Amino acid sequence: MNEYDSELVRSILRKENYEFVSKEQDADIVMLNTCAIREKAHQKVYGRVHNLRHDRGDKPVLIGILGCMATNLRQEIFEDRSLKIDFIAGPDSYKRLPDLIREAVGEGEKPYDVTLSEFETYSDVTPSRKDGINAWIAVMRGCNNFCTFCVVPYTRGRERSRSISNVIEEVEGLAAQGFKQVTLLGQNVNSYRHEEGDFADLMDAVSRVKGIERIRFTSPHPKDFPDKFIALMRDNPKICKQMHMPLQAGNNRILDVMNRTYTKEEFLSLAQKMRDRIPGVILSTDIIVGFPTETDDEFEDTIKVIKEVEFDVAFMFKYSERKGTIASKKFPDDVTEAKKTERIMRLNEIQKEITLKKNKAHIGEVHTILVENPTNPRSLRDKVGRNDGGKLVTFPEGDYEVGSFLKVRITDATPHVLKAEVLATNS
Ligand code: 5AD
Ligand code: SF4
Repeated sequence: MNEYDSELVRSILRKENYEFVSKEQDADIVMLNTCAIREKAHQKVYGRVHNLRHDRGDKPVLIGILGCMATNLRQEIFEDRSLKIDFIAGPDSYKRLPDLIREAVGEGEKPYDVTLSEFETYSDVTPSRKDGINAWIAVMRGCNNFCTFCVVPYTRGRERSRSISNVIEEVEGLAAQGFKQVTLLGQNVNSYRHEEGDFADLMDAVSRVKGIERIRFTSPHPKDFPDKFIALMRDNPKICKQMHMPLQAGNNRILDVMNRTYTKEEFLSLAQKMRDRIPGVILSTDIIVGFPTETDDEFEDTIKVIKEVEFDVAFMFKYSERKGTIASKKFPDDVTEAKKTERIMRLNEIQKEITLKKNKAHIGEVHTILVENPTNPRSLRDKVGRNDGGKLVTFPEGDYEVGSFLKVRITDATPHVLKAEVLATNS
């Protein structure tokens, strides 16, 4: 979402004739688009600002903080004099950036706008996108769920959705520019709701846009997967058979104090339904270890669910207390750091084996992959692409264009990638 928001910011400022430079040292203004979801993301921003000021020495530079950290910590950011922040804009205030920058150049108080809107969806801003293969497109913003650990409802405000017609207009433009894949974004993307239709209606409409071959979405909440949507996913070849299902914890008491609104049993039956109805679906999840009061036995329940569902991928996090959240007010952060580390390491070990087993099961299969730019061109001699399930596939050097589709056979697998030989181009 932040990458996408940065594309919005680029577009808003380009309209005002700001020029974007590739090297930080050449910039007169540097903006950091921040995340507040965990303390670590936070510390990174403080580190970056200090380094930036240090590297510049006496040469002037305006530094702006954008995004969730801005909303959450306006006071703290301005009060920390050593940080020297010039302006602040929350996630609903990017259209005010030209004004904020003008004010920041002046002598007065440092400007900020962290107002949260019930309406802002940036539906009238076309993002300045970099990559020409996958386009992110936010179809809704905000979250009404208030999971007790999470800061998002406070930093990004209430849920609001763009109209289907407005999203389709943008997707048609993307197809005309040659984009092959769109990823629909939202803090709670499957809670998308507009008078023109629900999330399934939106996905269906996007899949009718000629030229768009693959559609992905992130991040959903397990509570909003109606049968209508599952059937659409099964039957529509353009909708990738990849589902992120954040579990967070596998114990019912912990799920309850997290306010996740489902039980372990309900989650398990949903996962089973997905597997039964969408053959070959790739499932991933998020887990938080060490939520306040989580006992060893309760953590064992999470391990049991992980072993039972056998997710293809799991993202794991140590609980990080965030100011203002319900959990921070109700429960002391009482699981020790050592305990959290022990639990995350154990879970990692178990999941690594499951991921490897899942990846190895693909050996011998024929997949269609979309060729991508490697994330680190120097470290990989092989080419890379992604299959329908979103897994990274490497294949030997050859005359294949980024953005084209290839038919490959999977020959080997590690916990991180599938390796393949190319059978044919598939364009
Ligand atoms: N501490 C640790 N992890 C968190 N997440 C959200 N809030 C916190 C927190 N306070 C994780 C959840 C969510 C993912 C995006 O980040 O697992 O699904
Ligand atoms: Fe945070 Fe829960 Fe909303 Fe996801 S659904 S953004 S975890 S409050």
